[in-house]
Amino acid sequence: MGSTRTRGRTISEGPTPADVAGAPGLPYPSGWSALAFSDELKPGAVLTRPLMGEDVVLYRLRTGDVRAIRPYCPHLGAHLGLAELDGNDLVCPFHLFAFGPDGSCVRTGYGTPPPKAPLARLPVHEVNGAVFVWRHEDGRQPDWEIPGWHAIGHRPARQAAWEMAGNAQEVIENSVDIGHFATLHGWVEAGLGAPVAYRDKEFHVSMRVRESAPVIGEFDVTVEVDGYGLSCLHADIHTARFGLTMCTMIMPTAIAPNRMQLRQSNRIALAEPSRLPRPLARAVSRTAARLLERPLFRSSCDFTAADFPIWSHKQYEQRPRLAQGDGPIGPFRRWARQFYPQDVADRELSRIEQQRNVSAN
Ligand code: FES
Ligand SMILES: [Fe+2]
Repeated sequence: MGSTRTRGRTISEGPTPADVAGAPGLPYPSGWSALAFSDELKPGAVLTRPLMGEDVVLYRLRTGDVRAIRPYCPHLGAHLGLAELDGNDLVCPFHLFAFGPDGSCVRTGYGTPPPKAPLARLPVHEVNGAVFVWRHEDGRQPDWEIPGWHAIGHRPARQAAWEMAGNAQEVIENSVDIGHFATLHGWVEAGLGAPVAYRDKEFHVSMRVRESAPVIGEFDVTVEVDGYGLSCLHADIHTARFGLTMCTMIMPTAIAPNRMQLRQSNRIALAEPSRLPRPLARAVSRTAARLLERPLFRSSCDFTAADFPIWSHKQYEQRPRLAQGDGPIGPFRRWARQFYPQDVADRELSRIEQQRNVSAN
């Protein structure tokens, strides 16, 4: 994006980010949102992270359990992102009120009896190397979970995080936007191996892809994506020709209207060459994985980043003008509406229905 100097003032050129342009956005989706990678939160650490227009304070007890709380001290409102852990008690720096692992106030800084003033705890779930916090527009407690899955390879996951304008749904919707994999990401060919399957809060996409690389030429890739709510994708990407499996987690988190943080983690594993004796085969595959993980992680991040300028500047098109070659966007949107307040979801559905009727006529 360029810029122009006009009478001493610099004026930016190019599209305006969606959160600045005020393009109509989506409401915050209900469910789980990733606020941190597990290893950011060592025992005794306190972190503040944005979620849907508010701060959330995360901390890890010495026992290893994670807590998520609303940020303000129930005493006189100091921000608990400034608090410290004393053993397993969170201690507010203002008047040294301390809060035990169950959130109750266990002592004051004056040595006087503690008031009945518990912390406001939020449901938190640590799984697959990430810390998820639950928010629901009607205030209900969690009624679904993100499952734990296999951790492939022998190395720790590589991780990246970004912040940008955009809506979490756009990131999740990307996985059924089959058309854009060739046009934006440079895949030679991408198609569904089976119809997208929806089950309650989950969906599954099975893709058959043809990729091409310099020197190597074209090769086949299978991509199996599981989506959980509007905040977590897990993709298993398998290239049989190289015996390579990459496991990628993509986690968008709504932090403000039209603004999100996005976390990604990757693991890889290489098949052991069958012609070699077992210990040698294992050593060869591990060495190859160690050498390849950094370039593969970089190329996976580049792949994700190809979408960033699109997500950051687009509006959520309520009435998309779909064409042959598009992925199954309509069914995905009907599934996605369960994560929004009902009146908004109904409006959205009737728009989609209207659109279908118009295309049918
Ligand atoms: S505001 Fe936290 S102890 Fe007073
Ligand atoms: Fe994409």
